[in-house]
Amino acid sequence: MGRPLPVIIRGTGSYLPAEVLTNDFFASYLDTSDEWIRPRTGIRERRRAGKDESTLTMAKRASELALADAGIQATDLDLILIATVTPDTPLPSTACWLQAELGLGNIPAFDLAAACTGFVYGLIVAGSLIESAGYRNVLLVGAETLTRITDYEDRSTCILFGDGAGAAVISRSPDPSRHILYHSLGAQGSDAKAVWVPAGGSRDPSSNRTVAERLHYMKMKGADLFKFAVNKMNQLVTEALVTTGVKVDDIKMVIPHQSNLRIMESARRKLGIPVERIGINIDRCGNTSAASIPLVLDECRREGRLSQGDLIMLLGFGGGLTWGVALLRL
Ligand code: ACO
Repeated sequence: MGRPLPVIIRGTGSYLPAEVLTNDFFASYLDTSDEWIRPRTGIRERRRAGKDESTLTMAKRASELALADAGIQATDLDLILIATVTPDTPLPSTACWLQAELGLGNIPAFDLAAACTGFVYGLIVAGSLIESAGYRNVLLVGAETLTRITDYEDRSTCILFGDGAGAAVISRSPDPSRHILYHSLGAQGSDAKAVWVPAGGSRDPSSNRTVAERLHYMKMKGADLFKFAVNKMNQLVTEALVTTGVKVDDIKMVIPHQSNLRIMESARRKLGIPVERIGINIDRCGNTSAASIPLVLDECRREGRLSQGDLIMLLGFGGGLTWGVALLRL
């Protein structure tokens, strides 16, 4: 567990591509159906990036909105951090591309790969650098184009994933009562193959063979991940509450990574979290990995479900395996 960090989320923004893929789209060419997908996952539809879109273009739009919401200029930023497992290019980082797109120079910029936990990892990295390195404003983006690493012939994975980007400006807190109260991050690399992309990296670089064998697409052990996610969500919430003495009723919204509605529902019921206090977009967006938490956060803020002073809990868990929780007062 880490010590409290004196930072707030000063502004948020998000972007979803226009193209909607309904469950019927998959049923039109695969042996699947809305009747199978919806009850097992909670997903009705998801978004897919257009030909001219990528992680960078979506991150840029979300970032512009987050900067406007925070009331600061891009030139007020001290760092750009993008959580993604679907960078525009292996080299350089998407954060460097974004720095140029925002017309900035010189400030540091890097990507962080922690799959579905990327936004929570990024929040703690940003908060720690603000605390220790004197940064004032960090642009943190969770952005993914998962449809580009999804095998559209594999019915057990393709129905789950979607594209999108959520951004937040993380800033030094002007008020000691508004800060990150508690955070805890973890990983378990021994289970790395629970969800992974076998080829395209240094171990097995892209070749005609890797493409023919579809090794550049995500492979997933769905049932194992399901169990891991339910247990981890319960454990993360329980540890956070026991350590801080905060009660479930004190938390305005719990915003978990969106991997499966049944995972979130199972944990929500066990922990006694009222249904209106859990942030959900999986029905409309599917699993957007590092983008899921900032997308839900931005939606809740725009709908007026969250405001300054509210206590929120962000919960990430996914590929790596990785996990992370942050309890913060907005
Ligand atoms: N349509 C119809 N049938 C299907 C489909 C489909 N889309 N997908 C799988 N099936 C079939 C299987 O072939 C299997 O058939 P069989 O019994 O004849 O072999 C049957 O349904 C049951 O398959 P399971 O995989 O056991 O189905 P399950 O109930 O576990 O649901 C699911 C699968 C929805 C993927 C679930 O396991 C899940 O959500 N897991 C968590 C995934 C997750 O958390 N991913 C996050 C990590 S991703 C990241 O970090 C980027």
